[in-house]
Amino acid sequence: MTSTASAARAFSTDPDQSAVLPASWYYDPAILAAEKEAIYFKSWQFAGALYDLPEPGCYFTAAILDQSVIVLRDKKGELRAYYNVCAHRGHEIVQGAGRKMILTCPYHSWSYDLDGALKAAGNAENVKGFDAKEFGLKEIRVEAFANMAFVNFDAAAPPLAAIAGDLEADFRRVVPDFDRLVPFRRDHYDIKSNWKIVIENFLECYHCPVVHPGVMGEENANMQPSWESEDCGYFSRHIIRAHPEEVQSQATEKLPFQFRAGGPIKDGHLWGLWPNVCFIARPGDSNFQVFHVMPSGPETTHETLVNFGKGGAPEALELASFDRFRDELNWQDIGVVESVQRAMHSKGFKGGRLMVDPDNSWRSEGSVHHFDKMVWEAVNGRG
Ligand code: FES
Ligand SMILES: [Fe+2]
Repeated sequence: MTSTASAARAFSTDPDQSAVLPASWYYDPAILAAEKEAIYFKSWQFAGALYDLPEPGCYFTAAILDQSVIVLRDKKGELRAYYNVCAHRGHEIVQGAGRKMILTCPYHSWSYDLDGALKAAGNAENVKGFDAKEFGLKEIRVEAFANMAFVNFDAAAPPLAAIAGDLEADFRRVVPDFDRLVPFRRDHYDIKSNWKIVIENFLECYHCPVVHPGVMGEENANMQPSWESEDCGYFSRHIIRAHPEEVQSQATEKLPFQFRAGGPIKDGHLWGLWPNVCFIARPGDSNFQVFHVMPSGPETTHETLVNFGKGGAPEALELASFDRFRDELNWQDIGVVESVQRAMHSKGFKGGRLMVDPDNSWRSEGSVHHFDKMVWEAVNGRG
């Protein structure tokens, strides 16, 4: 192979020149280790829904790679987060979710206030020089964002609100009853692919008519294939334009996007937030979905869908749309991302060209490049 040919296949920060990231970036444990430090431990990570923390003492746990964290409301109702690790010998303080006014470790019963201070440790009075003030829970940054809790292990990271721009306002503009949404179900998937392939797939619709023929309707007639894409630094925004209402109203049960004619959400809206969370609002009544991925290994990913409906589970028509995504569309995506993952080991795959077009049309892979460039720069220390 000539050097020119090699160069043409290389990843480039220039979208008009770039191939995909090197294949090894999708299986090399050293790359995942670098991403862990440079991306996962420096970015805002989705931890859960604020709906699950209605009052003081309510808590839930979340796992950011190998870091277990507790997110809770303290006695004043303020949001706080801690590493879920006892300051004595390290047992996890709590599991799952619940409500407690004192957090007691299940190993030797050290107990902590909701502000993280150690309140009691058995036999402490007989231990030389023991100072309870040295053994509080270690706090982590947490922010409320769009009725969700995000945590960040990096004390120097900019606030989420500063990097997310008008993303929250965009949710509220698109989803009129955003503040009345309630998580009604969580769907889980274990996927045999690197986490980046799952996100890359989310960030383009080049594949949509091929992989999800029904989404665009028969011969793409149901949904206009007008993928509008915009990259805004740490997040991207995409819209799949639905047909005019008279066509929507003819929707039958066979269509994957069920929507109520006259519903407040006219189009399919998809947003990506760096690095590993995406959001979806479907046409119809107010609804929302958090699409969250977490690497479980260099070549495996755990994906969670947190589904929100207005005041609880949506009515049958909208629920059918969530179910169709869970049972059919998402499996179509999982099929392709797992196939791509296998290709990363193929001696026959040299890395293809990202199909970025200057107009950022619905077929452009511009958002994939934008994401890959952020990964590239973070891992190479320039992010
Ligand atoms: S490890 Fe928690 S009390 Fe000992
Ligand atoms: Fe897809």
